[in-house]
Amino acid sequence: MTATIDQSADSSRAHLDIDGIRHGDRALVLHPAFKSGPRAQYGGGRTPETRLEEACGLARAIDLNVVAAETVRVNDPRPSTLIGMGNVERLAELIEANDIGLVVFDAALTPVQQRNLETEWKVKVIDRTGLILEIFGERARTREGQMQVELAALSYQRSRLVRSWTHLERQRGGFGFIGGPGESQIEMDRRLIDERIVRIKKDLEDVKRTRALHRQARKRVPYPVVALVGYTNAGKSTLFNRLTRASVMAADLLFATLDPTMRRVKLATGREIILSDTVGFISDLPTELVAAFRATLEEVLEADVILHVRDVAHPETDGQKTDVEAVLKGLGLGPTVTDNMFEILNKIDLLDDDARAALQAQAARDPRLKPISAITGAGLDELLAAVDARLSAQRVVETYRLRHDEGAAMAWLHAHGEVLSRRDEDDFAELTVRLSPEDVQRFARQQKNKDSKGSQA
Ligand code: GTP
Repeated sequence: MTATIDQSADSSRAHLDIDGIRHGDRALVLHPAFKSGPRAQYGGGRTPETRLEEACGLARAIDLNVVAAETVRVNDPRPSTLIGMGNVERLAELIEANDIGLVVFDAALTPVQQRNLETEWKVKVIDRTGLILEIFGERARTREGQMQVELAALSYQRSRLVRSWTHLERQRGGFGFIGGPGESQIEMDRRLIDERIVRIKKDLEDVKRTRALHRQARKRVPYPVVALVGYTNAGKSTLFNRLTRASVMAADLLFATLDPTMRRVKLATGREIILSDTVGFISDLPTELVAAFRATLEEVLEADVILHVRDVAHPETDGQKTDVEAVLKGLGLGPTVTDNMFEILNKIDLLDDDARAALQAQAARDPRLKPISAITGAGLDELLAAVDARLSAQRVVETYRLRHDEGAAMAWLHAHGEVLSRRDEDDFAELTVRLSPEDVQRFARQQKNKDSKGSQA
């Protein structure tokens, strides 16, 4: 079945340059549906049709003009073109008739398959890895994210050396002088790529070190970190914006965020938290991209509370949940983090009354489930109150006796903790305060320094 799709993209948009793809390119998206073998599996209630839809969403995320999309049955994968010759010929006609300039193949293609299909169809062909690389390349915001993506792109190109030459030339201004006269172009390419990979790896180490320092600095800030994770398009950025009123891009595009974004949010109780938005998950992430993806998720390891945002209106919501939980587990999250995870059942506004009532009833039985709509704001107050309560529960309660002239210390406790009670005696005040364990130590250090200064005076 071939679906013709609304042609609304503006082809005059500026082009992106990772692999010569241009915004507004007229694209055909193909999802190969395998008859047998591991690639025939669609876990979590997924179907070839929903996979095709997701691939179209990914293509639109880089502003491709998807003019046709179809699933192609693959009974017997051909080493030279993956799909059968009958389909290759049929699609050649479709490509020509629709003036298509780019074919997006929602599967991994070998370099040979990619080249053969390009020759047959006389258009550019990119596979799933190439497509996601384009998206990551466009969306990476932090330096580390950009470098991880470039690293992944270089490894990908190294396996497709025929195509990499023009890319490197464009990127680095040409290196025709490298290599002796007898050296072949492919060897030069490989050398250029390898050199660049070594450089980026070294730079990455530096950036990672700085990031660790930043994290330490943030640890000194007395705000707990609440991280949003979830499948791409689940509504993380929308929720983040709603809670912070920050202008993180929220669009109906997959991958609107790659690198974590952090903002300070004041809860109703006055407690301040840092809310952190992370890149969206995706099924079957190409292995070359796992490191880039994980780099952006490491922040989650530092979080005090995780909000797993789910699109409960999506037909594959259960499969998405399984994927996200598997990756989080793979990151090695400790029990303190997983115990402090909420499952945010987002987009309840899209459900019919019965489905919504069923979710609400389920949530009433399980306090970790929080039904919300990031768009209408339903359920957000309850969610924030639950986060607040969870954070309070993580803190310890201490009692301090302070002289009445120790105003600065009292102010510090008010600013960093929650003063639960205060009893005033003639010589001192006794404050019962809920504090994070780090703040308990910090306060003890401050008091000790003050005492030692006092005894020196
Ligand atoms: P990535 O950046 O790709 O990981 O996506 P994300 O999880 O940040 O999703 P985003 O916030 O960009 O939302 C995706 C789409 O879902 C947008 O079109 C939002 O307007 C829409 N959306 C988010 N929350 C809700 C909701 O509660 N109800 C409805 N109806 N739509 C929502």
